[in-house]
Amino acid sequence: MKKITYNLIIVAFLSIFGCNKKENNNQPQKEQMENIQVSDYGVTAKGDSIRKFTLTNKNGMKMEVINFGGIITSLTAPDKNGKYEDVVLGFTKPEDYFNGNPYYFGALIGRYGNRIANAKFTLEGKTYDIDKNDGPNSLHGGKQGFHTKFWNIEPVKDAKFPTLKLTYTSADGEEGYPGKLSTIVLYTLTDDNALEISYEAETDKPTVVNLTQHSYFNLSGNFSKTILDHELQINGDKFTPVNETLIPTGEQNAVKGTPFDFTASKAIGKDINAEDDQLKKGKGYDHNWILNGSGLRSIAKVFHPESGRMMEVLTDEPGVQFYSGNFLDGKFENKTGGKNEFRTGFCLETQHFPNSPNQASFPSTELKPGQKYQSKTIYKFSVKK
Ligand code: GLA
Repeated sequence: MKKITYNLIIVAFLSIFGCNKKENNNQPQKEQMENIQVSDYGVTAKGDSIRKFTLTNKNGMKMEVINFGGIITSLTAPDKNGKYEDVVLGFTKPEDYFNGNPYYFGALIGRYGNRIANAKFTLEGKTYDIDKNDGPNSLHGGKQGFHTKFWNIEPVKDAKFPTLKLTYTSADGEEGYPGKLSTIVLYTLTDDNALEISYEAETDKPTVVNLTQHSYFNLSGNFSKTILDHELQINGDKFTPVNETLIPTGEQNAVKGTPFDFTASKAIGKDINAEDDQLKKGKGYDHNWILNGSGLRSIAKVFHPESGRMMEVLTDEPGVQFYSGNFLDGKFENKTGGKNEFRTGFCLETQHFPNSPNQASFPSTELKPGQKYQSKTIYKFSVKK
């Protein structure tokens, strides 16, 4: 952190006093300074200073990211009248992110996004006990998962668009996972109003990895409104049904003829209260969709009719957790003057399937030394009139 701060101070000083011809002639460096601002965000209970990075694209779209949990604290998108408003849920007080972030608002999730049954798995004949933080299971990498870690953040020089490089090295055995895992995440805000997220990881021992981003969206720009009027389409003909503790049963069921059919766009609220055993188990939607196709492709679209805001999601992952904010319970203030209430945000967490380390029929999440974990997801915003 110190290094970045000093670099930024030096560059700012030199450009103000015009004595650094080299930097001034270097267009990408200059643009990067204009497009990425760094400021103080808050101090944790242990006294660590947290910094906030504000990225701005050429249209004026803004994203704020902190070096605690790699958390996106704000992301704006235009409505049909060209008005940019914040569309991601968050807290109003920095300490609510630092002291647990119970909903995982905006955070990078690792080492394993979603649940691992009974908080254990076996790899190459050895059983690993990982942190049990969700009933009998492990959720989102454990209590001290990547969402609670200090990420080193550097603005990327010479990048075409404002880009942050976030790095974190997880020690061998952290939260019970084997292998030292070196992780790099890039956040880019492109000029066509897309947030691109690229993940990379390498290990020195066989392990499992499933990284994701846990932003909650509400395209209305008013965090006191529910997301039930948002129209969602998912390119997934099947989903993985779950048991009482939200662990997939291993089945891959067709969505056709069920409330889980989002193959054609429909309001999230349309069937959410239907008499359905899976909806009961999830308290709404909290399930993994098996995405059609492979490679980087469009997998979901969300449209908010009133504002005209549209969000398209692209990923190269095989699955997405569509979560309709069923555990939001109004305990914390939202950013527009109310509370973060039940179903006022939704997540589309791109991922490998939950509990893959214990489910041989699911795509593998194993990573071996010498291999590189790579994954990419794009959240692209536009307007439909
Ligand atoms: C994921 C899970 C949900 C819930 C949220 C965080 O989406 O699938 O069950 O735990 O994270 O509240």
